[in-house]
Amino acid sequence: MTATLAPVLTRNWGTDRSWTLEEYKAQGGYEALSKAFAMKPEEVISEVKDSGLRGRGGAGFPTGMKWSFVPQDNPKPKYLVVNGDESEPGTCKDIPLLMASPHTLIEGVIISAYAINAHTAFIYVRGEVVHPIRRMQRAIEEAYEAGLLGKNILGSGFDLDVIVHAGAGAYICGEETALLNSLEGLRGQPRLRPPFPAVAGLYQSPTVVNNVESIASVPSIIKYGKDWFAGMGTEKSQGFTIYSLSGHVRRPGQYEAPFGITMRQLLTMAGGIRTGHELKFFTPGGSSTPILTADHLDTVMDFESLAGLGTMLGTKAMQVFDDTTSVIRTTLRWVEFYKHESCGKCTPCREGTWWLVQLLTKLEAGQGEEGDVDKLLNVADTITGKSFCPLVEGAVACVTSAVKYFREEFEIGYTTPAWEHLPYEKSALFTIADKEVRS
Ligand SMILES: Cc1cc2nc3c(=O)[nH]c(=O)nc-3n(C[C@H](O)[C@H](O)[C@H](O)COP(=O)(O)O)c2cc1C
Ligand code: SF4
Repeated sequence: MTATLAPVLTRNWGTDRSWTLEEYKAQGGYEALSKAFAMKPEEVISEVKDSGLRGRGGAGFPTGMKWSFVPQDNPKPKYLVVNGDESEPGTCKDIPLLMASPHTLIEGVIISAYAINAHTAFIYVRGEVVHPIRRMQRAIEEAYEAGLLGKNILGSGFDLDVIVHAGAGAYICGEETALLNSLEGLRGQPRLRPPFPAVAGLYQSPTVVNNVESIASVPSIIKYGKDWFAGMGTEKSQGFTIYSLSGHVRRPGQYEAPFGITMRQLLTMAGGIRTGHELKFFTPGGSSTPILTADHLDTVMDFESLAGLGTMLGTKAMQVFDDTTSVIRTTLRWVEFYKHESCGKCTPCREGTWWLVQLLTKLEAGQGEEGDVDKLLNVADTITGKSFCPLVEGAVACVTSAVKYFREEFEIGYTTPAWEHLPYEKSALFTIADKEVRS
C-alpha cells in the first residue's frame, strides 16, 4: 500500500509553458525516443509487455500484449489510433494531459508506432474541446519542424505521420470500433467483433487503439525501464496512474499515484469532503462503474480489488458525493446521459435506457408506485448482456449498485420528491453568491 503521489505524467504540468517543445526537451523529453530507436521494434514491445502496463481507457487490457497481436506478415499498412474521446461523466484526465504536455503523448505515439511498424497515427480527440485540439495540432507542427515527425525521424530511417482528428460529439465514438467507423467517415456505431481491430481495424487494416494515458506512459517505461515501472503498484496492477477526483471534495483535481493507494488516502490528498459533511457514495472509475460507499474507503484502488467488490477501476474517475446528495437524482442524471448517448443500433439499449429514465423520473418526483424499484432492477436485468456493446452495462451499473446500497432511499420516492427529501441547493457546489463572485 502506498501513501505518496508519483508525478511522472503530471510532473511538468505546473511548469511555465509546459506544452512547448523547448520546455519538454528541457525536462528530458524525447530522450526515450532515441533509446527506443536503438532497440528493435519487438524489443520495445517486450519492454512494454514486461512492464505490466495495462490500458488506461477503462478495460485494463495489457498494452504490450495488444501490440503483439498485430500480424506483421499482413502486407496492409498498420495504424496506431490514440483514443482521446474522453466523454464519460467524471472522466477528465486525458484532456488535461493534452493541454499540459502534448509532447509526452507525441513521444509515446512515435515509440508505439515504431514498435508496431505503423507509419500513420491518428489522435482522435473529443470534438467539443477545441482548445486542446489546437494545442495538439501546434505541438505536432513543432515536432515536424524539429524532425521528430515525418521522414527519417532523427536519422533512424523510421517515417511517421500523425493526424489529429476532431470527433463529432458522441460518447459512443470512444468505443474503439465506433471510433474507427467515425474516423472512416461512417456513422459512429460499434462494429461486430471478431475481427478485432488488431487484425482488421481502420480501413480493414491491422490497427492498435490505445487510450491517451496508456500511450503517454510509454516514454517513461522506455526511459527508466520495465523494472522501474513494475516496481510500483500491486502484484497485477503495476505502475502509476492518474486518479481524477471531482465533486464534493475540497481540492478536486488530478492525483497521480501508484496503484495500491486507497480511496481514503486519495480523499485525504484532495482535502477531504467539504466542511460539515460526510461521504455518501462515489464512483471508482467514472459513471459507468458501479458506485461504492463510505464503507469502502479502505479499498485498494487497483483493477483486482475493485473487481472483487463487483465494480471496476474504469478510468479512475472518482466522482464524490456527500450526504446532501440524492442518489435517485444522481442516478437519473447519469441514466439520462446514457439514454441520450445510446447510438440506437440495438433495441434493449435504445428502449431500455428510455424505460430506466421514465421510472427514475417518477421516483425523483415522489410519484413512484409500490414495486417500481423492482421494476427498475427488472429492466436493468433485461437489457444487461443483451446489447451489442458495453455502453448498456455502463448505463445499468449505477442503477443496480445504487439500489443495492440505498434501496430505502429509492422507496422514499414512492411518497416524497427527492427535492424535498434532499434539496438540490444543499448539494450544489456553488451558491448564488459564489456565482456572483466568479462572474
Ligand atoms: C461506450 C464506450 C465509451 C468509451 N470511451 C472511451 C474513451 O473515451 N477513451 C478511451 O480511451 N476508451 C474508451 N472506451 C474503451 C475503448 O473501447 C478501448 O477499450 C480503449 O480505447 C482501449 O485503450 P486502452 O487499451 O489503452 O485502454 C470506451 C468504451 C465504451 C464501451
Ligand atoms: S448497446 Fe447501445 S450504444 Fe451499444 S450498439 Fe447497442 S444501441 Fe448502440
